[in-house]
Order: sequence, then structure tokens, then C-alpha cells
Amino acid sequence: MLDLSLPEFLELSVSDKLPYVGTKAILYAQQFSRTDLDEFNELADTCRKIFKSPAGADFLGRLLPHRICLNFFVQPSSRTFLSFSAAQAILGMKRMSLRDMNISSISKGESLEDSIRTFISYVDLVVMRHFDNHAAATAFWVAGKAHRRVAIGGQEQPVPIVSGGSGTRQHPTQALLDIYTLSKSFEDRGGIDGKKIMLVGDLKRGRTVRSLSYLMKNYDGVQLYFAAPEEYQMNEDILSFLDEHNIPYEKLRSITEGLADVDAVYMTRIQDEWDTVKHDSHPPANSNFVFHRDHLKLMKPNAYLLHPLPKRDEIEVEVDYCDDSRVVYWRQERNGMWMRVAIIATLFDCVDRIRAYDQAHS
Ligand code: NCD
Repeated sequence: MLDLSLPEFLELSVSDKLPYVGTKAILYAQQFSRTDLDEFNELADTCRKIFKSPAGADFLGRLLPHRICLNFFVQPSSRTFLSFSAAQAILGMKRMSLRDMNISSISKGESLEDSIRTFISYVDLVVMRHFDNHAAATAFWVAGKAHRRVAIGGQEQPVPIVSGGSGTRQHPTQALLDIYTLSKSFEDRGGIDGKKIMLVGDLKRGRTVRSLSYLMKNYDGVQLYFAAPEEYQMNEDILSFLDEHNIPYEKLRSITEGLADVDAVYMTRIQDEWDTVKHDSHPPANSNFVFHRDHLKLMKPNAYLLHPLPKRDEIEVEVDYCDDSRVVYWRQERNGMWMRVAIIATLFDCVDRIRAYDQAHS
């Protein structure tokens, strides 16, 4: 990597970038194999279980107290920011955050490259959310070029960079927690393989649905349904990726078209922060793509309703409180914290110690 300039690196296609990224950073959903996903899921479950006892929580909290991390989030975030913070706290890390560009040197005209180089002088992990599609890749390049190295598992390596959402393109850790949620939901039915999954809403600019679609390459027999108004339909790049990986998909013109057939419905909000014309209020969701309480009656008894959140009017409020176990988006949120524990523990080579503790105590 060090022989490439930043523009040369950014110009590479994602598949050409993947060999450079390896497993020491998290930038793209495409970087994960089925084994990675299975291991993350298992580790998230194990950490969750260990944490239930005070002694287990204490064990997890003693894994990374010597590491400092920065959560650099210059785009709005509640769940991703808080669940990463909570995950870092569970692992005993020391945490700092930078959430407002106006109170950082970026407002003085500092480049992203210089800012990142500064951050990695002080911390051992950067988790970042940024409006630029290339921000996480830029940070990764800077970390690779900078002199600072951290010793992880006896190896000196660049400060790990984790994307907590890059522009409209990628949200890899959200996709991992979505996979964790789907896998748990289908635990007794052979997991995600062979399932029909409907993605609804703003598929064009929704980075969660894009990243989740990429991860489907790891499962056999999955069928995707894209329910969205034409202007928010899934982009060509994802469709060609699915074609390349022989994943069948169909475009739908309303939720009801697919509802009775699918095993999971994944809702999203209109991503109007990307609109070029600014509105006084958020645009309402198209009524064909709003999930009503009555829709639960049309869904299979063992199908699930997910949403990365935040949500607005695309799900009727009554669905939140109807106490139907197929509505899993609040659990999905909690799963996010455990998946992020698993991600950080993996990046910092704690997996063997966690497994050994689990074996000794189960
Ligand atoms: C998503 C995001 O930021 O892309 N939120 C999240 O991380 N859970 C989805 C969204 O904002 O609609």
C-alpha cells in the first residue's frame, strides 16, 4: 500500500482495495467471508453471555484498559456512536470523542488527512462516521503511511480504522449487526441461507441496505426484494454485484406485493439529508412503503421486521408497542452493541482469551 499515493489508492475499485485492507481495518462490507460472519456472531453471543455475571463483566473490562480510542463522528449519530462507546466501555478501553467539526481544527481549514494523522498520534483505534464516501478509505491510507504503529498480538500495525458509516455508500458494522440479528432470528430455521429478504425505503442512498446486500454473497439461496419508489430504487452497482454473485432480486412497487412471501422485512427512512434542495420538514414516506400494524397480519408467523433506526413515519407508531415478537428492531439495536464488542475484540486479538474464559466458566 505504501507505494500508492492517496489518489491512486482511492481510485482503485473496492475489490482492488480489499487485499490492502485485509483484516486490520473495517471499511467495506465486501471484506467479510462467511467464516468471518459466523465468528463475529458467535463471539458477540459469547461476550453477551460472559457479561451476565459480575466476574465475567470484570474479565471483559480488563481486556483493553491500556488502549485509547477516538470516536470521530462528524455526521449525526445516536446508536452507532453510543453502541460503539458502550462496547469500548465493556472492553475497558479509554474513550474520547470528536463530534463537531466546528470545534475541531477542521474548521480552520485542516485537511481530513492531517486531522486523521493527528488523531492517530494519540489513540489506538479510530471509529469514524463521515459524510464523504472516501473518508474511511482516506483515514486507512493515512494510518498506513504514518509512522505510528500499535502492537497487537505481537505485531506492529497501523492504528485500526473502523467505518461507522461513510457517505451514502457503506456502513459495514451496521451490516454485521443486521446479519447477527437475522441469524439469531432464523436460528431454528437453518439461519439466513435460503431466506427471502425485502429491503424497503430509500435504497439508493441508504448505506445500510447497500452494505447488507453485499453481505448476502456469503449465504446460499437468498432472494432479495427491493421495495422502493423508482427514485429511491437500488443503484446499478449493487444490482451488478448481485448478478455477479448469482443472488436473485426483484423490484417491488409496494410493501404488500412481497409481504406474505418474505422471511424478513428491512425498513429504512428517506435519507433526505442528501437532498440538494433543503426542505423545512422531513418529506413523508410514500404510502406504498409505509409499514402499518395491519401488515403484521400479512406477514408469515415466523418472519421478522427490522430497521437500522432512526425511523420516522415509514413505520406506524403502533407497531412499536404491539408486543409482537416478530418486531425486532429494538433488539437489533441492542445486538449492535454486542456486535461492536465482537468487532473490537477481534481487531485487538482478544478472541482466544474470550473463548478460553468462556470454556473455563461454562
Ligand atoms: C443508519 C445510518 O446512519 O446510515 N443509522 C444507523 O447507523 N443505525 C440509518 C439511517 O440513518 O437511516
